[in-house]
Amino acid sequence: MKERAREARAENRVIGLVPTMGALHRGHLELIERAKRDCSPVIASIFVNPKQFGPNEDFSKYPRTFESDSEKLQQAGVDALFAPEAAEIYPAGFSAYVNVEGLSERLEGRSRPGHFRGVATVVMKFLQIVQPHFAYFGRKDAQQSKIIMQMARDLNLDTEIVVCPIVREPDGLALSSRNAYLNAEERHAATVLHRALEAARNELAAGVRDALQLQAVLHRVLGAERFARVDYAEIVDAKTFEPVTRVGKPCYVVLAVFVGKTRLIDNLYIEPKEASSDDLEIRF
Ligand code: PAF
Repeated sequence: MKERAREARAENRVIGLVPTMGALHRGHLELIERAKRDCSPVIASIFVNPKQFGPNEDFSKYPRTFESDSEKLQQAGVDALFAPEAAEIYPAGFSAYVNVEGLSERLEGRSRPGHFRGVATVVMKFLQIVQPHFAYFGRKDAQQSKIIMQMARDLNLDTEIVVCPIVREPDGLALSSRNAYLNAEERHAATVLHRALEAARNELAAGVRDALQLQAVLHRVLGAERFARVDYAEIVDAKTFEPVTRVGKPCYVVLAVFVGKTRLIDNLYIEPKEASSDDLEIRF
């Protein structure tokens, strides 16, 4: 992979990387479409990264659908698939990690200790190996995207991080490889995340800016769904992911909800009209 990347760089080609853990869905394919607009070659990676799963998480049962994933990538016109073995990425004695402080400890980081250290480390390694000019991530994982952008900035990486919109099912459920875990009843119930975000959006449109009031709306909608158990439902600053008391700057409404045993996340980006232009630079 390194040799191929070096050749492409020597030919002044613009390399795009779409890192994935496989179990590809339309969300991934839209990242590839976007990458194809900017880059040639477009390289996709499939690697179920053991370092970003906690000891009681779903690493062993994470959907692995390599054959159909490779077909989808070929059909999507990807130029190369990078699918290393875990032992190549983490050889014996591996001990260097990337930690983005602060941002990594909140929300997802609080519920999943060590998760973002695993993500930042593997993404850093893939950026080193593939040397892409652009790398593409989905905004469903807004905190992850922000952490990767912070890492790229702080460590002077030569890759521009591009964050692409959330892709949803017609009923609003955000696409995720973990949706495959849901049974029919849970799949139906899982729309509650989108319904809660839409309820918050309506309150915002009606002029509500108080975070507690918005949170109460989220909890009311989520609490009415019997299969749902809230991990967090918060309004956070879009730059720091710290909770806010009032929506005056760009923010995210962020949700992590168990539907049955499956933990799903979703978010809504809010850019209040009254935010100053200095604050809008984070727009993806
Ligand atoms: O979002 C994902 O699928 C993963 O966290 C990533 C970025 C591919 C790193 O393993």
